[in-house]
Amino acid sequence: MRLETMTWIEVEAYLSRNRGVILPTGSVEQHGPLGLIGTDAICAREVAWTAADHCGAVVAPELAYAPAPFNMGFPGTVSLDVTLYTELARQVMAGLAHHGFSRIYVLNGHGANLAPLAQAASGVDAQVRLRSWWDFDAVNALREDWYGDWEGMHATPSEVSITQHTHRVIADPGLPAPRKLSPEYIQAHAGDRHGPPEDHRRDFPDGRVGSHSALARPEHGAALLKAAAEAVAADYQTFVG
Ligand code: NI
Repeated sequence: MRLETMTWIEVEAYLSRNRGVILPTGSVEQHGPLGLIGTDAICAREVAWTAADHCGAVVAPELAYAPAPFNMGFPGTVSLDVTLYTELARQVMAGLAHHGFSRIYVLNGHGANLAPLAQAASGVDAQVRLRSWWDFDAVNALREDWYGDWEGMHATPSEVSITQHTHRVIADPGLPAPRKLSPEYIQAHAGDRHGPPEDHRRDFPDGRVGSHSALARPEHGAALLKAAAEAVAADYQTFVG
């Protein structure tokens, strides 16, 4: 069930028996020449919606706008200040908690959200579980099998595959493989700790960060969505009890 298409009568009835809600979080930012601007938000909400079919959770509207300052050199990116985002996320969770959603399962799709979401959750009177859709073994087995190191860090073939399945395929103009990232680079930039926008665009001129997006396939997206949704539904059920 999606909160936005429920009535308050239906929400009240749900809360008389349940206290769980899934809150998807994403971003509005460039995802390379083959990836949609809304990729992170789309992936998080599609996984949440499919998981809800398995576990009966209510899914709140996704928090799409997010911090992505490093991508502001690319048209279409909209970045929120981290302080504002943290407070926005806290107030959204507090609003849900106010009505009795005391188990808030945050399903994330954007690395830079993790630290502010964890901070926001600490200021809310509810239990919060924070997961990204790629956290699960069954999902990672597919990513490793299909893409290996070419999964990379941004505009990943796995996330592009999901949006190809749910939305559309952008024709590949014959993109070469991106520059391969060193393990040191990946470790130093985990959680999207990238530099200023002008440096980021200079270093990654087409927006891909070590990710070979052209390996994406809609049929991969269908399988990734299924695996992630089943894992999230099981994890959600252990969380709400
Ligand atoms: Ni992404």
